[in-house]
Amino acid sequence: MTTISLSARELAAQLDRTRMPVHIAIIMDGNGRWAKARGLSVHQGHQAGREALKRTLKACVQLGIKYLTVYAFSTENWRRPSSEVRFLMTLLERTIDEELDELKRNGVRVRVIGRLEEKLPQTLIEKVRRVIEETKHNKKLTFTVALNYGGRAEIIDAVRAVAREAAAGRLDPREITEENFHNFLYTNGTPDPDLVIRTGGEMRLSNFLLWQLAYAEFVSTPIYWPDFDKAELIKAILEYQRRERRFGGRNEMCA
Ligand code: FPP
Repeated sequence: MTTISLSARELAAQLDRTRMPVHIAIIMDGNGRWAKARGLSVHQGHQAGREALKRTLKACVQLGIKYLTVYAFSTENWRRPSSEVRFLMTLLERTIDEELDELKRNGVRVRVIGRLEEKLPQTLIEKVRRVIEETKHNKKLTFTVALNYGGRAEIIDAVRAVAREAAAGRLDPREITEENFHNFLYTNGTPDPDLVIRTGGEMRLSNFLLWQLAYAEFVSTPIYWPDFDKAELIKAILEYQRRERRFGGRNEMCA
């Protein structure tokens, strides 16, 4: 069987521009397997993963996507070999140094979610603060990096904040709703993702944005993250557009 692979331009022509996702979240998986398949080191896999992230961010800007959120380092990732953890931290620092100007030129606002004050190297925390500060007025795309992030930890942190407000008499527990609970999450101010993409073929959420992904369309692709590009991104958006988004209600056909 011959498979014809369409170019990003040909795929983009199929997009319904009136139904683009506002917010895309990505679980970037498969760096290790990509490297292993090529006889390369895991570090080289992450390095190639960084290039895929740069491509994807650029493609999102070109497609007019307003929010992109990526899972860069989970609370579970500390269990990896210490040399790999150190490499990832250094790669993040280097990426901030190298990409800050480009991010500013492209109108990208950077946000970071996760337990920032815990465990991360001080040099990284300082660079993260700098990139957040220097891009905070940018409007084209909000790029959120989940770093030392866990979805359950985020919910626990929100519950603690709610409980503090209630204990101080500033919040009546009867007034807590799904809408205002969102204000206590790390993603406060960001609309929930419409589409979540996972590369590397797995079908799990792996503790990513547990609250926010309640109604998102999940698209899993077998492509390893370092091979992800604009064409793959558009394929995922096309899949999203093919699905009926009913939010648990009925569509017109069933009414
Ligand atoms: C998963 O691949 C990827 C990660 C744990 C980290 C994601 C990191 C990058 C994309 C590198 C650059 C990121 C930034 C923000 C500079 P894996 O190692 O779990 O793959 P495997 O499942 O094949 O082992």
